[in-house]
Amino acid sequence: MKSFPILAVASLWMCSCGQAKVNTSQPTIVQDGKDTCDDPDANINCCFLNMPQKLTSEMNIADANEPGLRLELTGTIFQSDGKTPYPGVIIYAYHTDNNGLYSKKENETGVQKWHGHLHGWCKTDEKGNYAIHTIRPARYPDNTIPAHIHAAVKEPSGKVSYINDFVFKDDSLVNEKYISSLTLMGGNGIIDLVKKGTFIYAGKRDITLPD
Ligand SMILES: [Fe+2]
Repeated sequence: MKSFPILAVASLWMCSCGQAKVNTSQPTIVQDGKDTCDDPDANINCCFLNMPQKLTSEMNIADANEPGLRLELTGTIFQSDGKTPYPGVIIYAYHTDNNGLYSKKENETGVQKWHGHLHGWCKTDEKGNYAIHTIRPARYPDNTIPAHIHAAVKEPSGKVSYINDFVFKDDSLVNEKYISSLTLMGGNGIIDLVKKGTFIYAGKRDITLPD
């Protein structure tokens, strides 16, 4: 695949997969010498291109050596009635590192060149449950928006959607202005974290997906 070193540097603190800009109607095309997923506004399907063939309900984004406070997120995805568990939904998530950067390990391809090394996938189990093991992301260096985790889902039918970012209630930028800016998809994404030790935070988010 092509390498774009200048773009790679710029990606360090860009917010990619912007919901308003993404064209979800065009198919993903990856051909010899042309990687259409190497783009900050790539098709949402690019988020699911590099995932492992076998997924469990556990997503491990950050390994034990990743600097930062540990974060454990759990929840259940429900169908549109808000009650029926939704098995087999793939979740993709990515976020900044402890310095607020979408930092890379230089082996990323496709849209992960923009999303950085802190990304992962999982698939809800038969009860619709999922878990994400990672670190708490930091705000972008310009401190203008809350620390957040981007997420997209792929339903068994193949339907793909972005859901609202995971953000954290204890972040002072998760305020009325932020909440009023949201267009809800999968809830507002605001997580009330509980400290489970000196360096571990845990939170829960249930997600209802519309038809
Ligand atoms: Fe972002």
